[in-house]
Amino acid sequence: MTKPKVLITGASSGLGLALAKRLNQDYCLILHASKEENIKELREGNYVLAADFSNPDELNEFCKKLKKDHGDDLFAVINNAGITIDKPLVFQPERDIDKMLMVNLKAPIMITKTVIKLFGLKKRGVVIQMSSCVAETGNAFQSVYSAAKAGLIAFTKSIAKEVANLYDNHRIRVLSVSPGFIETPMTDAVPQTEKEKYLTMIPAQRFGKPEEVAETIAFLLSEKASYINGSNIDINGGLF
Ligand SMILES: NC(=O)c1ccc[n+]([C@@H]2O[C@H](COP(=O)([O-])OP(=O)(O)OC[C@H]3O[C@@H](n4cnc5c(N)ncnc54)[C@H](OP(=O)(O)O)[C@@H]3O)[C@@H](O)[C@H]2O)c1
Repeated sequence: MTKPKVLITGASSGLGLALAKRLNQDYCLILHASKEENIKELREGNYVLAADFSNPDELNEFCKKLKKDHGDDLFAVINNAGITIDKPLVFQPERDIDKMLMVNLKAPIMITKTVIKLFGLKKRGVVIQMSSCVAETGNAFQSVYSAAKAGLIAFTKSIAKEVANLYDNHRIRVLSVSPGFIETPMTDAVPQTEKEKYLTMIPAQRFGKPEEVAETIAFLLSEKASYINGSNIDINGGLF
């Protein structure tokens, strides 16, 4: 039996790579990174589709290729690719603001737009957006990143409702997950003093592991999660 296809954006590193490793047995993966050569693992038996999401033309081309090459048998999309450029807003150049909004918000919106149409034909499919705890808590020096991640949660809830308006008897689910502080290359860059401050806010008294986020997403993709829709799932050790 052919395996259903799952697109993972940002599959070269951190959470995306851990997720790809977790899903590799059960699904045929479409592995995305900003450049093709950045996908170094799991290429065998899977597909690679590269695009720099900060570039509108590349994002557009990516959506077209996704539809053309994989539209028929795509089962799910995990919009995981993301960037932080941490600075006080007053020192944030407009080009960095645009880049964060493009990669963290517009790309997931355009990819969702592409695949919801495809899922509508079969009345089946799952979209999961990678939000963040800062969408709910806010975070100094991450105002634009936080705004983009909060936008993803509202977008998710709206699309879940929209799908119900468009299709009867469907099995399409749209969800977001909000990790807390997870040990990946993105958080490696956080200064030690900041890390210690975060730890005091986490009841679990430790940072999360990428595999823990991957396990949650694997569950959300499965039939066992068939009644979870439009939700945002926190994976944060109780972070407040
Ligand atoms: N780590 C955490 O604690 C944490 C917490 C909450 C939410 N998140 C979210 O989880 C997601 C994954 O984060 P991570 O910690 O795994 O980060 P990471 O290790 O830095 O991985 C980021 C991924 O996004 C891709 N990406 C970055 N810029 C891109 C661009 N311009 N165009 C296309 N792809 C791009 C990267 O691809 P390249 O290799 O090609 O650059 C990479 O695969 C992000 O959305 C992040 O905001 C992370």
